[in-house]
Amino acid sequence: MAGRGLLGAWWWARGLGPVRQVGDPVLRGAAAPVAAGQAGGAEVRALVGALVRALRREEGCVGLSAPQLGVPLQVFVAELPERLLRRAPPPAPRPARQMRAFPLRVFVNPTLRVLDARLLSFPEGCRSLPGFSAAVPRYQAVLVEGLNEAGEETSWEASGWAARIVQHEMDHLQGILYIDRMDSKTFANLRWAQLAE
Ligand code: CO
Repeated sequence: MAGRGLLGAWWWARGLGPVRQVGDPVLRGAAAPVAAGQAGGAEVRALVGALVRALRREEGCVGLSAPQLGVPLQVFVAELPERLLRRAPPPAPRPARQMRAFPLRVFVNPTLRVLDARLLSFPEGCRSLPGFSAAVPRYQAVLVEGLNEAGEETSWEASGWAARIVQHEMDHLQGILYIDRMDSKTFANLRWAQLAE
């Protein structure tokens, strides 16, 4: 297959396993752009398919980047289904967090532009550091532009919670985790209350 070298032997030989955990060097490197002409190809479609399956397998997960599956390429997926909104947890009320459902979004080689630089700080988490959360300041609105899984140009003006997800996933493509940007005094074990009983 053309471009077999793109994703490397680790992809074709081993497939994609569980979500990589903090400490794994693949989460700390800068992801490479997908080469021109590869964006709509079979390998990138397979990678996107694996990301979407993993996203939907991980209960409550709303975004996932290729490095989190061990593939250091600039690809991420995001999705916020209505059913997840219905069980959004306290303490911050949903209106304050500006959580609105959105359909599956796929970005290959995305770039980010800040549209509204007001900062909102709410708790967020990451499947590469499960069981914890911390408040992270994120911009109110961003524009993300790139290619979709078919290699076609696509863009999205995301605001509120969707903008938070985009900024979190874009950070993954630069080797940045939310713990690098968090208000560290808000870092919490999600089960701290149960564990204290
Ligand atoms: Co994450």
